[in-house]
Amino acid sequence: MLFPLAILAFQAAALPEAAKIIESRCLACHQQGGIAPMAFNSSEAIRPWAKAMRQSILKGAMPPWHADAASSVHLARVRALTPAQKQTLLDWLSTDLSTQPPFELQSPSQPTGWQLGKPDIVLRIPDFPVPANGTVQYTFLVSKLNLPADQWISAAEWKIDQRQLVHHINAFVRPKGSSYVKQAPVGQMYVASREERAARLTEEREIDRRELLLGYEPGYLPQTWGEGRAKRIKAGSDMVFEIHYTANGKSAVDSSELGIYFAKAPPRERVLTISPADSKLEIPPGDANYKSFVTATLLDDAKLVSLQPHMHLRGKAYQIAIQAPGSESNTFLNVPNYDFNWQTTYFLKEPLPLTKGTILACTAWFDNSPNNRFNPDPTKTILWGDQSWEEMNVGFMEIAIPANRDPDVVKLSGTTRPAGPSAAIPPR
Ligand code: HEC
Repeated sequence: MLFPLAILAFQAAALPEAAKIIESRCLACHQQGGIAPMAFNSSEAIRPWAKAMRQSILKGAMPPWHADAASSVHLARVRALTPAQKQTLLDWLSTDLSTQPPFELQSPSQPTGWQLGKPDIVLRIPDFPVPANGTVQYTFLVSKLNLPADQWISAAEWKIDQRQLVHHINAFVRPKGSSYVKQAPVGQMYVASREERAARLTEEREIDRRELLLGYEPGYLPQTWGEGRAKRIKAGSDMVFEIHYTANGKSAVDSSELGIYFAKAPPRERVLTISPADSKLEIPPGDANYKSFVTATLLDDAKLVSLQPHMHLRGKAYQIAIQAPGSESNTFLNVPNYDFNWQTTYFLKEPLPLTKGTILACTAWFDNSPNNRFNPDPTKTILWGDQSWEEMNVGFMEIAIPANRDPDVVKLSGTTRPAGPSAAIPPR
């Protein structure tokens, strides 16, 4: 009896350093049922992928993490490898793996069920058949929340069914009387026109139109906004889901859910999502370096909680800079290799206090040249739009303010266009 146990113990101890790195840095996605198409959970499973793994690590494509090292210092849940881990993996992957003793890796547990506990409200997205091929239009779903009174929300969580088919989902809170996709029927999947989506009443404050409660994107992990922080949903609000499915060769029916958690006690801070956006962008055909710029100015003190750059297929690089009153502008988040497939939300390790008058500047660079391998058509002038062949520059940010303050705390800039269509960006 003791003998096989001893062998097991010996094997565990003998796991190569590189295998431990794969276990801790790759298996979250590369396991059976994970979001990546192949599992790396044993020496045998890894061997045929060794070359591709080496290449993807060298290119910096894997693990997927697009912020540079300097900005990652402030960020939580960084997926990037340290330089030492990278070297260990590259060295090991260059050896002849067939001569190495076999091993098995321990896959981290695949989350099933609600990670943050039983939600107070569950909103279910009706079964949606995602076809094997072709483009699925952005789909909208309006769900009734039926909140009898204003409610503090301590967290929200996605339970995504077909993780390989859901490109992203945004859950927006739409207050009563809002102009946002107001023709959409309740409880039915609906493709809203561009006009319906852009509709806005004159003088309608953004906070009265819609607010992003929670986004889902590949690599998403459930998390609360932190102790003493909550979002506010007004009585009579609806939830509007904006859903983007992407066909991947196999048809399947998706039925994802959003769980909502009520705060147990009134929070100290209210979390808001702000979304400075350059809806006037106009990218000339062939331009390899089009720059779009938009700012948000804080009308009150606030703390920065998270950042999410959003562009589409021509998105090339993104920066969010912070300029305190009377100071120089400092790049806070630098994403030199933007990848549309990874709509990452970057959470700060600790919320960053910002003073009234601080400017948050979002700069997006686009590559509309034929050299961009994702470019669907370099001969077109590209305007703002939902579809991945149109473009967006949105700098989603979550900020926290004292709970009793007026939530109308930002002024979004008209966009300032640099002279000429192209503008400098640090080289790739
Ligand atoms: C957050 C999830 C995630 C993590 C962590 C992750 N991967 Fe991946 N990986 C993916 C997904 C999804 C794909 C398939 C789509 C793509 O290629 O982007 C992929 C694809 C790959 C590919 C195939 C690329 C190709 O050229 O076809 C390789 C090789 C790979 N990953 C290696 C790694 C290694 C090595 C690690 C750890 C050091 C890692 N991945 C960590 C999600 C992840």
